[in-house]
Amino acid sequence: MEALSSKFLLIFFAFSFTTLSIQARETNTLFIRNSCSSTTYPRLCYASLVKHADLIQTNHVLLTGTALNVTLASAKSTSAFMSTLSRSRGVKPREAAAMKDCVEVLSDSVDELRRCIGEMSHLRTSNFEVTISDVQTWVSAALTDESTCTDGFQEINAKHNIQRIVRGKIVQVAQLTSNALALISKLAN
Ligand SMILES: *[C@@H]1O[C@H](CO)[C@@H](O)[C@H](O)[C@H]1NC(C)=O
Repeated sequence: MEALSSKFLLIFFAFSFTTLSIQARETNTLFIRNSCSSTTYPRLCYASLVKHADLIQTNHVLLTGTALNVTLASAKSTSAFMSTLSRSRGVKPREAAAMKDCVEVLSDSVDELRRCIGEMSHLRTSNFEVTISDVQTWVSAALTDESTCTDGFQEINAKHNIQRIVRGKIVQVAQLTSNALALISKLAN
């Protein structure tokens, strides 16, 4: 009898714990959805951040920091991809030149995003408003760099699949950057 009731108790606790963690997860994903709704590309914002819901919880600083980290990772992988692609066979000199320009621009963006992330990590200790305004300036610069790069690609006719893929990747980096900027602005208000 006692064994049976302790078994029930165990099941009850396991059930409550599961319910609580499901509720916490729902709260966290709802927080991300709401925060993303004020960005320019809310669906991309949500899709890129929901994987990190357990880390972000309902913390604006962690949300923004994660958005910057996700953007940096995307800029780095796009840059590496383009760099390899520009050196591959069958790529026309004009295309290779555009890709190389893009890699340069992306590496500037990566530097700016790195500085942002560095600044974000000591947000609590330094002057909040100055830091936020620096971060905004850098992310804006990153965004300008990326649109310069996509402009370069528009000039090449987008007949080839490869160009469409490349453009898609760069556009995604630019959109992630724009979203990070929106989240930073929200943090500043
Ligand atoms: C972002 O990346 C930096 C460097 O890898 C790390 O220290 C920091 O914890 C990350 N921030 C978030 C919110 O994950």
